[in-house]
Amino acid sequence: MAGAAIITGASSGIGRALAIELARSGRALGLTARRIDRLEDLRREIGGIVPIELRTLDVRDTAAVGQVIPELAAALGDVDLIVANAGIAGGRAVGTGHFATDRDIIETNVLGAMATIDAAAALFRTAGRGHIVGISSVAGFRGLPGSAAYCASKAALSIYLESARVELHGLGILVTTISPGFIDTPINEDLKTRPFVIKPEVGARKIAALIASGTASSTVPKFPWGLYGVLMRFIPDALWTRLATLSPGTGQH
Ligand SMILES: NC(=O)c1ccc[n+]([C@@H]2O[C@H](COP(=O)([O-])OP(=O)(O)OC[C@H]3O[C@@H](n4cnc5c(N)ncnc54)[C@H](OP(=O)(O)O)[C@@H]3O)[C@@H](O)[C@H]2O)c1
Repeated sequence: MAGAAIITGASSGIGRALAIELARSGRALGLTARRIDRLEDLRREIGGIVPIELRTLDVRDTAAVGQVIPELAAALGDVDLIVANAGIAGGRAVGTGHFATDRDIIETNVLGAMATIDAAAALFRTAGRGHIVGISSVAGFRGLPGSAAYCASKAALSIYLESARVELHGLGILVTTISPGFIDTPINEDLKTRPFVIKPEVGARKIAALIASGTASSTVPKFPWGLYGVLMRFIPDALWTRLATLSPGTGQH
């Protein structure tokens, strides 16, 4: 029987859809975000099929993350899944006066996620079991134009998760890196093109299946992004520079 799950950034998009999907599978939930009103709406929508605890949490406040995660775990009991999902995009070209936004992206997507994963690992080390999931991105595979901070944040998160996976291997703690392509959420709704975009409900079903299978790392969906990821990594720099500039802005996801 699956235990309870904690998800950061559950007020919208992927986190919200994943909460609904996990509730359907019978998991009690600990949901966090800055917009508590949206979490309350979500709890009403899920409608009492599982116990749900809500907490206001800004993941940039890393000390608060370290308090809220164990507090939620104590309130729910038997938490065995923690999903570091909260994230933002919205960067602009390097050197165009948007450094404050870039800083915000790093504080949220890297430090906020690291604080979540750190708190999860501490909890699961004590329990001797658990599953940590990080929502990274295919944008972390290679530097794209128009979203340097976002690409850097997801590359950092993926590598951090990989180190955690290796460290925690053998302690009964799984670590999964999920790298979505385009999923139709507010984070990318302003983009002109979103190749192979899928609905959040479809993405959440695929993510839940990957979690259940204990996958170490996967794109979502697997095809075409898994293949694209392999190609992205091996294309030589000069060719990548030419190809990537053909699709400006596609990195903001
Ligand atoms: N959609 C895609 O195509 C795509 C592709 C690859 C990766 N991703 C990743 O998937 C994750 C979820 O994104 P999404 O597409 O579902 O976007 P979204 O609909 O905009 O949701 C983002 C979530 O993150 C939360 N969040 C943002 N900043 C936060 C902060 N400082 N503290 C706590 N929570 C915060 C938001 O909640 P509040 O604003 O209420 O705090 C919201 O619930 C992100 O990490 C994103 O990078 C998305």
